Formats: sequence, structure tokens, C-alpha cells
Amino acid sequence: MTHRRKIIIDTDPGQDDAVALLLALSAPERLEVLGVTAVAGNVPLALTQRNARVICELAGSSVPVFAGCDAPLKRDLVTAEHVHGKTGLDGCDLPEPARPLRPEHAVEFIIETLRREAPGTVTLCPLGPLTNIATAFQRAPDVVGRVAEIVLMGGAYFEVGNITPAAEFNIYVDPEAAEIVFKSGVPLVVLPLDVTHKALTSRAWVEEMRSLGTPVGRAVAGWTDFFERFDTAKYGSEGAPLHDPCVIAYLLAPDLFSGRHINVEIEVNSPLTLGMTVADWWRVTDRPANALFLGDVDRDGLFRLFSDQIARL
Ligand code: RIB
Ligand code: CA
Repeated sequence: MTHRRKIIIDTDPGQDDAVALLLALSAPERLEVLGVTAVAGNVPLALTQRNARVICELAGSSVPVFAGCDAPLKRDLVTAEHVHGKTGLDGCDLPEPARPLRPEHAVEFIIETLRREAPGTVTLCPLGPLTNIATAFQRAPDVVGRVAEIVLMGGAYFEVGNITPAAEFNIYVDPEAAEIVFKSGVPLVVLPLDVTHKALTSRAWVEEMRSLGTPVGRAVAGWTDFFERFDTAKYGSEGAPLHDPCVIAYLLAPDLFSGRHINVEIEVNSPLTLGMTVADWWRVTDRPANALFLGDVDRDGLFRLFSDQIARL
């Protein structure tokens, strides 16, 4: 009997978040999704919480969805409609969610869940800005030591930034929150752009999704078609980078990835490099290692995993 990992997915859907949620919900024998917490990021909170519910219902899941923070700890919200479209889920029209949002604030849900579940049994999977996680740690320091691991999409080093020349979007939106998380002492696994920019869809894979002939397959194809246009125009790459699905893929098949356990710190002061993840990849300092910072992925193995799992929904 394989061990079922308990996880909370913190997310700002976003087409790539949507594929990540579908992946997680496609493997109930491996992942017990205790809850989905929405945060402001790609689009405002009113949309990310709505999108999270739409996606969970598309997967046929009754997992509880909570709304969290609608703005970064200390800064104005920066969104990414230029990438994800006005709704955050452009590319596929889906009905309004039937199930309501849970009334508890997402931060309270995270705190209460960590206090209820046995220490070291819950993994946090942030796919957007780290505002909800940092707020939970600030409000309830006693839960920090109860977190098994944080496996997050964010940051960049050799790949440099995507929202500024120096910073990746999730970290840039709330650098103070990222600093709290990266200094928390919780074991971190970081899926940066260095990895996710290698997780590019192909025309053949998108058509494979469409040919599933299922509502999920059609949605994944529509979302990735829409999402691809931004990266193709910017990077000239064929294919959309499936950033957030790499987090779930790591949980299901960690051997697809490789990286280094190193020190990673967050720039929170410099206007020029705000939100940069300063990764000591060559270990030139004696700063303590606080993160498994991933640098490479078996792209074909990754997309075989995506195909196998999405076809199950
Ligand atoms: O920089 C990529 C990250 O920002 C992804 O999580 C994407 O969904 C956006 O949130
Ligand atoms: Ca995201």
C-alpha cells in the first residue's frame, strides 16, 4: 500500500494552476488533498477563488475551497492578466461553480488543519504568491514546526526573471511573504523557472489532450493553447511552460527531477532586483542550505506522467 500524502494546495488559478489541480485530483490513491486555498496573484482573489472551484468541479471533486489573502503583506497586488487573460482561465469556457466557497478564511483553514493533523504529515503546495502561507506562519508560529514540507513553484536563478529581469512572478508579487517562508526552517523543495521552462507542452501533446474527448481533455487543450501564446511571443519557444504542474509531478515522481540542496534567500529591498531568489548554487557562501532547488527535469517522462494522469479524469 503506497503512502497517501496529505497536502494543501495554495493557488492563484491561472491555467497552469488548473492543470496542477487536475493532476493532484487525478491521484487520490497517492495524494489526499485536504483543501484548496485561493490567493490573489495571476488575477484578483474574487477570480482565483471562483476559478479554483470551477476546476475542482471539472475534476468531479468535492474538495473544500477557501478564499485567502486578497493582497500581499505590504505591497499593492500585481496581477498577470497579460498572461492568463481577464478571467485567469481564458481558453475554455466553463460553467459557474455550483458549490459554494467554504466560509472559513484560508489562513484559518491552514492553521487549524496543521494543528489537527499529526506533526510532519501535511505538505503545503503553494502555486502562487506566498501570502497565505506567510500569514498563517505569522498568526500561528506554533504550526511552522508541524509542516512536513513545502513544495512550491517559484523563483529562478540561471533562468532569471519573468516579471522583471531579476524576479519570477510568484516571489515578486509578495517578496516579504517569500522571505518568511524561505527563513521559516520548514524543509523546502523549490520548482523554479530553471525547471519549469523545460516543461514545455508540444503541439502533439496538446492535440493528445484534445483527442481524449473528455471535458477535462478539452479544457486542458484550450487552456494550454491560450497560455502558450504569451511564452511563444516572448521566448520564441514552441509550447507553454507547465509551471505549477511540476509541483504535483514532484510529489508523484520526484526522480524525474534533479537539483541541489542549497541556500536560497529573497531580495526584499533593492528596487532593481526585488523578489529575486538568490540561490547559492555554487555554495560560495557559508549560508545554511534551506532548500532543495531543482534545476532539471526529464521532460518526456514528465509529459508521460501528465498524459497518464489526465486521462484518468
Ligand atoms: O511565474 C510562474 C508562476 O506565476 C506560475 O505559478 C503562474 O501560475 C503564476 O502564478
Ligand atoms: Ca500559479
